[in-house]
Amino acid sequence: MDKIVIQGGIPLKGQVDISGAKNSALPAISACLLSKGWNRLQGIPELKDVHTIKKIMEEMGVVFKEQGETLLVNTENLTSCHAPYELVKTMRASILLLGPLIARMGRAKISMPGGCAIGARPINLHLKALSSMGMDMYLEHGYINASAKRLKGARIFFDIPTVTGTENILMAAATAKGVTVIENAAKEPEVQDLACMLRSMGARIEGEGTDTILIEGVDELRPADHRIIPDRIETGTFMIGATITKGDIWINNCIPEHLTAVIEKLTAVGADIHIEDKRIHVIGPDIIRSVDIKTMPYPGFPTDLQAQFMALMCISDGSSIIHETIFENRFIHVSELRRMGADISIDGSQALVRGKDRLLAAPVMATDLRASACLVLAGLIAEGERTEIRRIYHLDRGYERLEEKFQKLGARIWREKDLSAP
Ligand code: EPZ
Repeated sequence: MDKIVIQGGIPLKGQVDISGAKNSALPAISACLLSKGWNRLQGIPELKDVHTIKKIMEEMGVVFKEQGETLLVNTENLTSCHAPYELVKTMRASILLLGPLIARMGRAKISMPGGCAIGARPINLHLKALSSMGMDMYLEHGYINASAKRLKGARIFFDIPTVTGTENILMAAATAKGVTVIENAAKEPEVQDLACMLRSMGARIEGEGTDTILIEGVDELRPADHRIIPDRIETGTFMIGATITKGDIWINNCIPEHLTAVIEKLTAVGADIHIEDKRIHVIGPDIIRSVDIKTMPYPGFPTDLQAQFMALMCISDGSSIIHETIFENRFIHVSELRRMGADISIDGSQALVRGKDRLLAAPVMATDLRASACLVLAGLIAEGERTEIRRIYHLDRGYERLEEKFQKLGARIWREKDLSAP
């Protein structure tokens, strides 16, 4: 196993290029199950989660060819519809295979994804919606055994605007018989990106990015040729990096309008933010002002940047309340930040962060993907010999060579073998 080592205190300077979005790449690769022939996806990041979903799909007979950040996907000869527990347990987003498999093959055997560090992560809304489209299913030995002759259009209301739930139904409804209406749909940019990809394959979809999406099923879809959007969470992570280190960076290949809530909050913190077409210039302030946040579905402040923002508030000039409304256990990074001297108290879904003058370097442990990024940001400003972050396989799930990108911005950060790991 590896660990990341950081000697903090260097303001980030220079330019960074954002990679393709993990949460667009996963549904896009799954959606290739809906068409035969060679699909071409561009901007696919080199991530552990992308590797995992490819491994699961290769077991089903899918053929992949990689040409740099371009991924060619051929699902002509599917031989299985089985997604095994050993792989699914490492990546919950495997549930995104359910909709397209049922639509394409009329059957699927997918391990129940189970929970993860940040919450129970139920999939009841996915299953209820697909059942209303004619999917029959039973749960046995931890697997979802699902079948359907041909899915039919339905009117679906999501109690909660679930991102992957909306994506599963978009993919299932694209070739269903009749019209599907999704109400209280998720509006995230990644959902909109999937709708664009499906439309380029011949799907008839309108309303993505609003509460109500209408999909008119077609008989078949042609192979995709689609470039996925840049990763707004990686973008936000670097914006916070420039702010927390009092740096001055240009973030290239991003979509600023995907980060309105984050720009608003970091401006309130005191960052000087300039926007160009596909670039954001962030200059960190001398004084980091304390600001409250509440995570909300898009376009609200994203839960996937909550931990990173908390690291920033640890050295603010006052107290801030961080209210996590999406996941029930997304404060695991708090105990690790406390090891670095942070003053944080938790009351249910709210954390009160009292800003300190500094954080202190310490050995810490990553617990989930975004908590890992939070600890990197804390390490960049921590005083002392070195911060060591263990179990960074969490980080590699969702960030493409993050330490190299920070190195290029001047940070003293590198990867080492963790000899203490069992
Ligand atoms: C997606 O997860 C993202 N993952 C998450 O990113 C992100 O944090 C989340 O959306 C919220 O934006 C991918 O896109 C692969 P949800 P998803 O269904 O779809 C409840 C990261 O770090 N819910 O929108 O699983 C659920 O418990 C990851 O990149 C049900 O109750 O999230 C949660 O409270 C972490 N029943 C809320 O809805 C269901 O059937 C929102 O979850 C589904 C969801």
